[in-house]
Amino acid sequence: MEFCPLSVYSLTAGSSGSPTFLTTNFSRYIMDKLIIEGGRPLSGVIDVNGSKNAALPILLSSILLEGPQDFFNVPNLRDIRTTLKLLGLLGCDCVQEGKRVHMEPGTLTPEAPYDLVRTMRASVLCLGPLIARLGRATVALPGGCAIGARPVDQHLKGLEKMGAVFTLEGGNIIGRCEHLRGAQITFDMPTVGGTENLIMAAVLADGTTQLNNAAREPEITDLANFLNSCGARIRGQGTSTIEIEGVTSLRGSTYSIMPDRIEAGTFLACVGMTGGRIVLTHCPVEALESVISVLESMGMRFEHCEQGFAASMSGPLKATEIRTQPYPGFPTDMQAQVMALMCLAQGVSIVDERIFENRFMHALELVRMGADIQINGHTALVRGVDHLTGAPVMASDLRASASLVLAGLAARGETQIRRIYHLDRGYERIEDKLSAVGARIRREHEDD
Ligand code: UD1
Repeated sequence: MEFCPLSVYSLTAGSSGSPTFLTTNFSRYIMDKLIIEGGRPLSGVIDVNGSKNAALPILLSSILLEGPQDFFNVPNLRDIRTTLKLLGLLGCDCVQEGKRVHMEPGTLTPEAPYDLVRTMRASVLCLGPLIARLGRATVALPGGCAIGARPVDQHLKGLEKMGAVFTLEGGNIIGRCEHLRGAQITFDMPTVGGTENLIMAAVLADGTTQLNNAAREPEITDLANFLNSCGARIRGQGTSTIEIEGVTSLRGSTYSIMPDRIEAGTFLACVGMTGGRIVLTHCPVEALESVISVLESMGMRFEHCEQGFAASMSGPLKATEIRTQPYPGFPTDMQAQVMALMCLAQGVSIVDERIFENRFMHALELVRMGADIQINGHTALVRGVDHLTGAPVMASDLRASASLVLAGLAARGETQIRRIYHLDRGYERIEDKLSAVGARIRREHEDD
């Protein structure tokens, strides 16, 4: 296999969804940067947030409800604020107070505007619920993103099987169907968003829908459990065959979102990078099995303790191999963070990225910090180096940003990470959580 050095490897960055519509509050984040002084071992306790990727579809399924709803353990993140704004425009009035969101259903409208959808691809998840509830939906086509083309053909094909008809007009997907009916749907590949969209469409359809080759991610199970708490009849969540028996209406309930396995996994990986010991409270250990076993193979130790789940690292990191796969395989959302660990591991590590094209944007920045990485197509070869050196670097997408934080925590000297609005999409005040366990990390305005 031939690997090309990163200096001659050209990465194509599509539209990364830069947030031009943003309010004054958001623009503050655009200008922020993180400054990290590396080399401090971590020690202490970190509480894991509610899951962003579970919260997004769960909040959007408010569209399906006929009564008020209270959501708990909702993270305070930019993507969540975008979702609440979108829900407000669609007719579901939401108020967030700390980790609680209260939703009051109002008169629904079927249009999700481009300005919101372009900043958050997950907005496409309102397609299924809007057609189910209103018989029509106009949702801007999300377009490309920094980690690949990310099509939505599986969402549309599934909805078509249930009777929906789609046209593309002025950059919008327009979907219509008087009343969705249950269908047998087999996905070409397990898709998280596709599975979620079709579950939400099928809960109010006539008859029973069977989803085959469905994605099995824990966030899908959380969505199905939430909908069942509102009166839906969903079975098989967490397996690749999900059955949804349509009901005529759904009531509101109270529901607590599952903890964020990717946030938790990122903090576990931080300890591998710096050494030390941290304890995570509300850590979704079972959902992190594949990540934990890779981190163990690199020399980390884990144990359940009275306060939660403890991670420690004392010796040198060892090289390993990962291949990203649908759950329960190794998650693509942890690939960039583990690549940061590989940069300092003894020996040669291999990353095989099988879910998304263009998901090596972080590699170029890691190389600027002294890493030795070569890319060939969807494979990266990482030769461990003795140390990384702090440098000014640029965040390119959410998880790429997290890998730069990890690198910065271990690097000699100061690392400045710009464009951290990507990071703020998925991590709530990461600098506060890491400072509390001993890291030297602070947020500054770019123009300070
Ligand atoms: C979700 C997660 C994201 C994670 C990803 C994979 C949310 C909000 N985002 O994204 O963080 O990285 O799962 O675990 O939960 N595909 C198609 N056609 C489709 C749909 C998907 O070809 O209609 C392909 C994608 O290009 C990709 C693969 O299927 O190669 C998996 O994508 P999918 O699981 O749908 O990812 P998302 O739901 O977008």
